[in-house]
Amino acid sequence: ERGTGPVATAVAHPNIALIKYWGKRDEHLVLPRTDSLSMTLDILPTTTRVHRDPEAAHDTVTLNGRPAEGEALRRVIAFLDLVRDRSGLPHGSVVASENTVATGAGLASSASGFAALAVAAAASYGLALDATALSRLARRGSGSACRSVFGGFAVWHAGPDSGTGAEADLHSYAEPVPVGDLDPALVVAVVDAGPKAVSSRAAMRRTVHTSPLYEPWAVSSRGDLTEMRAALLAGDIETVGDIAERNALGMHATMLAARPAVRYLAPATLTVLDRVLGLRRDGTPAYATMDAGPNVKVLCRRTDADRVAEAVRDAVPGCTTRVAVPGPGARLVDGAG
Ligand code: PMV
Repeated sequence: ERGTGPVATAVAHPNIALIKYWGKRDEHLVLPRTDSLSMTLDILPTTTRVHRDPEAAHDTVTLNGRPAEGEALRRVIAFLDLVRDRSGLPHGSVVASENTVATGAGLASSASGFAALAVAAAASYGLALDATALSRLARRGSGSACRSVFGGFAVWHAGPDSGTGAEADLHSYAEPVPVGDLDPALVVAVVDAGPKAVSSRAAMRRTVHTSPLYEPWAVSSRGDLTEMRAALLAGDIETVGDIAERNALGMHATMLAARPAVRYLAPATLTVLDRVLGLRRDGTPAYATMDAGPNVKVLCRRTDADRVAEAVRDAVPGCTTRVAVPGPGARLVDGAG
């Protein structure tokens, strides 16, 4: 463990799920309905500095240099309350977070954000947590953040089916997933960087409670995870991509069937999906996945990534792309001293 002084800075990268997390069984503890599996990226990091101040009764939070407000501020304070509880230190903090990705656009800014905050806050409040405990803690900020604690591919265990409460909390965390000879890239295609109209939290809740397609998707997603693990181990990019694409489309189907419907997919999203199909037809393994927003992440071989990115940009005017490969887990960069 690194030091435990009042100031700590951590860096974390976003992750993109190939088997999606969609639906909670416990909102307060952020316990999911199903396991999920993701790749942590090597681009678009968040850097977060926590400066614990024994004199401060409140937290001061800035995001990209601007004071945080509303829901974003509330979530950071609630997260720090957890850290205060565990450490026994009631102190407030000055938190400064710099995101290199558009916030709230379905580009996993909350994953990198809360993973970085978990690592920095734990160090600043003197909590000596191993990676599993950090993953559990990050989960409480934003579910998907528990996977960004780890680099490369990670699986988030939902934990025993019906469990809730402190015991279940212990069983829900991410860990690295073994992969075989795979040289993957994710082409992040941004068709709209604006914030989403419905938060993933609200959309999940509505889907679980009202969508007749939710339960069938959850059942099939459990099967997808088993097949995905095998395909990753085998280094079989075609099967990995195929499972990822169907799992994501299935997740969006559950939302489309919610009442009222939640639709994150835009016309430009479908144009990218058509282009991806075209690439496949022409013999390039390329597979799409979408989260709580219209942007598309295309899984392909690293050697094909630039060509895939160009094809996607050509298909949608104004679309920008970034190529990501597996990146590192969250880490302390300036450790508390
Ligand atoms: O961690 P949250 O609450 O932002 O949920 C993110 C859910 C998806 O990005 C849509 C899927 C996933 O597994 O990351």
